[in-house]
Amino acid sequence: MINRRKFIAASVATAIVRPTLASPSVVPLKASVAPVQLAPEGYDTAELWCFDGRSPGPEIRVAQGGSVVRQFQNNLPEPSSVHWHGLRLENAMDGVPGLTQDVVMRGETFDYNFTAPDAGTYWYHSHNRSWEQMARGLYGPLIVEEPDPLDIDQDVTLVFDDWRLDETGALSGNYGTLHDNAHGGRIGNLVTVNGKMEERLQARSGERLRLRLINSANARIFDLGWQGMTGWIVALDGMPLETPQPAERVILAPAQRADLVVDIVQSEDPAVIYMAEDGQGYVLADVAVSAGTRTVRKTSPKLPPNPVPDLTRAPEGEVVAVLMEGGAMGGMRMATHNGQEVSMQDLVQLGMAWALNGVAGLTDKPLFSSDRNALHRVQFINRTAWPHGMHLHGHHFREVMNDGSLGPWRDTLLVGRNETRDIALVANNPGKWLLHCHMLGHQAAGMKTWFEVSV
Ligand code: C2O
Ligand code: CU
Repeated sequence: MINRRKFIAASVATAIVRPTLASPSVVPLKASVAPVQLAPEGYDTAELWCFDGRSPGPEIRVAQGGSVVRQFQNNLPEPSSVHWHGLRLENAMDGVPGLTQDVVMRGETFDYNFTAPDAGTYWYHSHNRSWEQMARGLYGPLIVEEPDPLDIDQDVTLVFDDWRLDETGALSGNYGTLHDNAHGGRIGNLVTVNGKMEERLQARSGERLRLRLINSANARIFDLGWQGMTGWIVALDGMPLETPQPAERVILAPAQRADLVVDIVQSEDPAVIYMAEDGQGYVLADVAVSAGTRTVRKTSPKLPPNPVPDLTRAPEGEVVAVLMEGGAMGGMRMATHNGQEVSMQDLVQLGMAWALNGVAGLTDKPLFSSDRNALHRVQFINRTAWPHGMHLHGHHFREVMNDGSLGPWRDTLLVGRNETRDIALVANNPGKWLLHCHMLGHQAAGMKTWFEVSV
């Protein structure tokens, strides 16, 4: 008896006339475990989950309108997937197990291939058990280049993360504890930039740098400032601002990005500084300045717009409310989970701590279903004691400000405790899309839903 597997193998073998293994069109993106020195010399290495052997994974760069083509190869001990955060891509490539694809088992592959419509700073990360896989390092930057580059001297990506290490320098275990998930998430004890405790840049005096800041942390909000350089925020979450904003500070919730253009105006101590909750400033990246001949440019840097939908006025009419409840000190009494009314006490036993519109975790029913290109106003009502970085897949949106004007295009909005914030959205990308908190422990403990856009 010939079994089916052998039979297929045999027929494939005879059908192949030229070798297709190691075809040059396959560009691998390989996830595996690798030892990385995170803590200072003298401490142990940490076993990280890496793309192509490092964390952050390799910087993927494509031209705007070009294709991202990667064969995800899973060599991790458990199933995974890759989500391309902030890209307005086709639904089948969004990398969400159970919604847009099956998980990729250990030893298996998945071919990602999609067009990048918008220039800007994006990133990719695991979307399976992300609270653990990303805490172990499974993410990397994705840069989509404008056809006409900005007039700058250097283009620098700074990926911020926050790790929880034990006293040996290894990753401390206990991923997704209920305590973390019901509070601020997995806050760590070591902050890194590009996987290092301190990043050192080199520049000549007067040079103009583009800094692409990415918060890849599970839970930590980075309040960032800079000194020794004057800067503009030119883009948020990948999308150019209509007018670059002179700034000295930017707050990044998990998953948010900001593009800065800075001029090195001082020869001493230019640096990017993290303003921590303890009131202290910590230098995360500094710049070694050599004497330069460049004169500081006077022009303000402006990026060309991306092909975003037409959205210039706040939508009127029906509001899609998203009531956010739960968590420690939240007073939530019960929620629906898997179709059952469950008390808070029992929810906690099930690992749930948060609810959106009274529902903890995903159900078959979307938050809303939309005709293609319909305009929506979504209202986040945060009745919890915690801030949340609310992220929509497949779309960017604009915040509806109090005066009715529209804020910058974003894909993740930081909604502070007890705040109510509205966004305007053109649902123009067909498919099933997640909407969730990007504090990954909150997502794991119920703070997620989805919406559907018809073809
Ligand atoms: Cu960074 Cu569901 O995504
Ligand atoms: Cu949250």
